[in-house]
Order: sequence, then C-alpha cells, then structure tokens
Amino acid sequence: MSERVAPVSVIGLGPMGRAVAGAFLDAGHPTTVWNRTASRAEPLVAHGATAAATAADAVADGPLVVACLLDDDAVHAVLDPVPFGSEKTLVNLTSAAPEQARRRAAWARGRGIAYLDGAIMTPTPSIGRPSALVLYSGPEETYRAQGPALASLGGTATYLGEDPGRAAAFDVALLDIFWNSVGGLVHGLALARAEGISGGELAPYAESIFGLLPEMMTRFARQLDDGVHPGERSTIASASAGIEHIIATAETRGIDTGVLTASRSLIRRAEAAGHGADGLSRLASVLAEPAA
Ligand SMILES: NC(=O)c1ccc[n+]([C@@H]2O[C@H](COP(=O)([O-])OP(=O)(O)OC[C@H]3O[C@@H](n4cnc5c(N)ncnc54)[C@H](OP(=O)(O)O)[C@@H]3O)[C@@H](O)[C@H]2O)c1
Repeated sequence: MSERVAPVSVIGLGPMGRAVAGAFLDAGHPTTVWNRTASRAEPLVAHGATAAATAADAVADGPLVVACLLDDDAVHAVLDPVPFGSEKTLVNLTSAAPEQARRRAAWARGRGIAYLDGAIMTPTPSIGRPSALVLYSGPEETYRAQGPALASLGGTATYLGEDPGRAAAFDVALLDIFWNSVGGLVHGLALARAEGISGGELAPYAESIFGLLPEMMTRFARQLDDGVHPGERSTIASASAGIEHIIATAETRGIDTGVLTASRSLIRRAEAAGHGADGLSRLASVLAEPAA
C-alpha cells in the first residue's frame, strides 16, 4: 500500500474530527474512527470507516493516529492510558496552549511515539478542500514522512519548525486577534442599538472599518519588528482623547465598558511611559512591559 493511502485512525468525532475523518476517507485512506460517544461514528461508518470499540483499538489499527478532541485534558483522558507500541505517529490537531503542546510532545517522546502538533485555522467545511489551512510543528522528519497523508486534509499545510509549541503559538496569537475583533464587533453593535441604530444600519459602515485592518496589521507588524513607531498618521495621545467619549456613551447607556477600559488603561500606560507622540503600533510593545 502506498503512503498516500496509508491507514489512519481518527480519535475524536466532534464537528472537526468528523470533517478530518471524512477527508481521509474521501482521499482513499482506510480510516478507523473512535469517539467517546460511539453513535457519532455512524455516518462515517456508512461512508466506509471502521469503528473501533476502544481508543486503544483505534491506535492499534493505524500507524498514523490523528487526535481531534475538545482540549488537552480530553487528550490526556483518552490517550494517556493507551499503549501505543512501536512505529506510531501521533498528529494532534486538538487546540492547546503552546506549553501544553510542548508537554504533549515530551510525553510522546517518552513513549517512543513520533509526534506532530497541528493547529487547524479554517472551519470544518474547508477540510479536504483548497481553502483549508493547517499549521504543523515538531520534528521535520516526522512532518516529511506524514506530509502525503496530511495532504488529504486539503489546502495549505504549513510547517513552522521543530519547536512543537510553535503551531499552537501561532494559533493562540491569531485567535487573540480574532476574539478581540469579535469583542469589538459585538460591543459596537450593542452601543449602536442603545443609540437606536439597528445592526443592519451599522453593518455597511462597520465593513469599511474592518477594511482598514489588513493594511494596519501589515504596517504595525513591520513597525513592531523594526522597533519604530511613527506617529504621523495618528498618535497615542490622540487615541487617549478619542476613546473617552466612547466610554462615556457606553456608561450612559449601561453597556459593559470592560473592553474599552482595558484599551484605555493600555493607552494611559503608554502615555505615562512617554510614548504619547508615537503611533498605535507602540501599544504592542507596551503590552509586554510590566505594568508600573
Ligand atoms: N470546529 C471547528 O470549526 C474548529 C476549527 C479549528 C480548530 N478546531 C479544533 O478542533 C478540535 C475539535 O473540535 P470539534 O469542533 O471537533 O469539537 P469539540 O467540541 O471541540 O470537541 C468534541 C470532541 O471532544 C470529545 N471529548 C471532549 N471531552 C472528552 C473527554 N473528556 N473524553 C473523551 N472525549 C472527549 C468529544 O467526545 P463526545 O462526542 O463524546 O462528546 C468530541 O469527540 C478542538 O480543539 C477545536 O478547537 C475546531
């Protein structure tokens, strides 16, 4: 059997685990699946998968074991008791903190298991399709060996280096951007509604705000990397004044101001450190400085 269609075992059949198992099946891999709630395996079995009775049986079936569980605690609960035997590779697609990924890699190393950590950056419908993006880190040799099988997940597979925590580090940084953006989005919607503006009225204008962000991201990233934060477009001092009336309006309308006051306290810290004339990219370096 060629490596392209090597047997794969998928542990965890939530929405993403099902998409992952489905993509392996579609690509022709003999696929064994296991899930704590066994009934979730049924549609995949109808599609050609083999359901294992236990996680240990699933691990025994595949030289390549792919875990896609809720979190690192679930990986611990499911895989720690399982004897892996020899010649196994574990690709862990479960979202985790970088330190958890490093600990999981050390755990695998201690058991002679080849280990890659993966972070899936795109939603379930992308899996097996060109729009999928999955980041991997761990031993390059393991990535190269499993590359053909992992290509079944579609799209772009990106190898980020030997440090097993690096894929998770990209994941948390990118999700940090995502959740802070979601925080701003829902806060703006709530503030608009409190001022009698419907979501539908606000959305077209909000789209133009979001349209500014890709260029800002690239520019701020460059400025942070270069340690240069020019204030010719806008300054921290100006932001300090500008955020006040937004907080005041939210307070007047009884809307939680936690998201905004966190930004204000960062801006004030930057001003107190003498950075008022700098551009907003300076705030990223101030965040990493200990608060006075
Ligand atoms: N869904 C997405 O769009 C997406 C996108 C990117 C990354 N991810 C990542 O992919 C991973 C899986 O996500 P998901 O969407 O498939 O669903 P999920 O809700 O994050 O995970 C559900 C899976 O975890 C299992 N599980 C939870 N606790 C367990 C425990 N203590 N013991 C055994 N099994 C346990 C569930 O089993 P039961 O069925 O028995 O409850 C189910 O198989 C997560 O780390 C998630 O962050 C998901």
